[in-house]
Amino acid sequence: MKHDISDHAWDALSALLCQEDPSTFLWSRVMPAVLKAAYLRGTAVIEQDATGALIGFMQHQPVQSGWAELGSFWVSPDHRGQGIASRLFARLVALLSTDSGVQGAFLVTHNPVVVALCAKYDWQEASHATWAQTVPYRETCGPCDRVPEEAKAGCPYRGDTAECRLLFISF
Ligand SMILES: CC(C)(COP(=O)(O)OP(=O)(O)OC[C@H]1O[C@@H](n2cnc3c(N)ncnc32)[C@H](O)[C@@H]1OP(=O)(O)O)[C@@H](O)C(=O)NCCC(=O)NCCS
Repeated sequence: MKHDISDHAWDALSALLCQEDPSTFLWSRVMPAVLKAAYLRGTAVIEQDATGALIGFMQHQPVQSGWAELGSFWVSPDHRGQGIASRLFARLVALLSTDSGVQGAFLVTHNPVVVALCAKYDWQEASHATWAQTVPYRETCGPCDRVPEEAKAGCPYRGDTAECRLLFISF
């Protein structure tokens, strides 16, 4: 069942997704109208809190016949580490795997949480490159009891090497 999501909520989600990608590289995929259309078309899954606010989003897009790319993974920082991405991922992959027009899916990520998610669901790694660039803490962390929110930028547990992986699954 589709929920009635206000245009204001799509605007707010788009702004948050744009903040995750300061390079502007993938902004065309996360404009408010694009997010809304994906949800209404059934190529995006969402999670809402008790008040109806959007706290999680993922989508897929066809890239060529039979293949879909997963992306725009986002969970609100206050709700990270509670299994929301895991649930959204399972729902999105289930949608794709029952689509007879889709033979496989892939994603590109440098986020270790997403790599862990893929491993949980038996995705395969197709390529893996490493470069020296600290992974921005906001991409992997939610509030935690190790390091207070205001000190996260200097967190000693943060990885200082970025790993870019292409992962895929065949149905
Ligand atoms: C990536 C993101 C969507 C994950 O959302 P989340 O709801 O916190 O993820 P989950 O709690 O479902 O965790 C998924 C799995 O990752 C693993 N995991 C969680 N935190 C981890 C961490 N810090 N390091 C490594 N693995 C981790 C766990 O195995 C977990 O599965 P489990 O709950 O069964 O143990 C969220 O951090 C986010 O929005 N980040 C910013 C945007 C972004 O970087 N998107 C990805 C771009 S490719």
